[in-house]
Amino acid sequence: MKKIAVFASGSGSNFQAIAVAAQSGSLNAEISLLVCDKPDAFAVDRAEMLGIPALVISPKNYASKEAYEKEILQRLTSLQVDMIVLAGYMRLIGPILLNAYVGKIINIHPSLLPAFPGKDAIGQALAAGVKTTGVTIHYVDEGMDTGPAIASAAVDIIAGETHESLQRKIQRIEHSLYPEVLEKLLNGKEEAVQ
Ligand code: GAR
Repeated sequence: MKKIAVFASGSGSNFQAIAVAAQSGSLNAEISLLVCDKPDAFAVDRAEMLGIPALVISPKNYASKEAYEKEILQRLTSLQVDMIVLAGYMRLIGPILLNAYVGKIINIHPSLLPAFPGKDAIGQALAAGVKTTGVTIHYVDEGMDTGPAIASAAVDIIAGETHESLQRKIQRIEHSLYPEVLEKLLNGKEEAVQ
């Protein structure tokens, strides 16, 4: 069974959706580790509730990004992690992890990329006044929310839409799409992880 490490910085609702899918068997993978760069993030509490080990690691405590990522890599290697899944991890991935996991790091973003990359994609879509936004799952490269797309889903923005209502609609899709895409990437017949 393939082993996944999920990286998160915030609430961790996508982390939980992936972990529940793995625990229920609809995703045939082991969630070996949560990596979280924010000690106060709710994702860390979720890991405890789900019985998944967490590496809580703050870049502030390292001299460089390289040293920070080397520490993470050591843990991933010792657990024989096959794939890194970013789920609201609000940091760029550096060369240490990119080179160790070529084609095996994926991210989810709450817009139809390349529209609205970076922070608060939902707020950006509302401010732009577009009628449709969505969710994109993509391979990670050195850029911010760049890299080849794997899957996407559109979400309509209706009259009177608020940040909260749009976020709810987007997250509902994220929570089903991310485990589904992971299952296809890891265990699908024709779609292999690069
Ligand atoms: C998710 O909506 C994810 O798409 C977004 O952060 C949220 C994390 O929610 N990611 C990005 O914006 C990446 N640029 P969660 O912590 O509840 O899973």
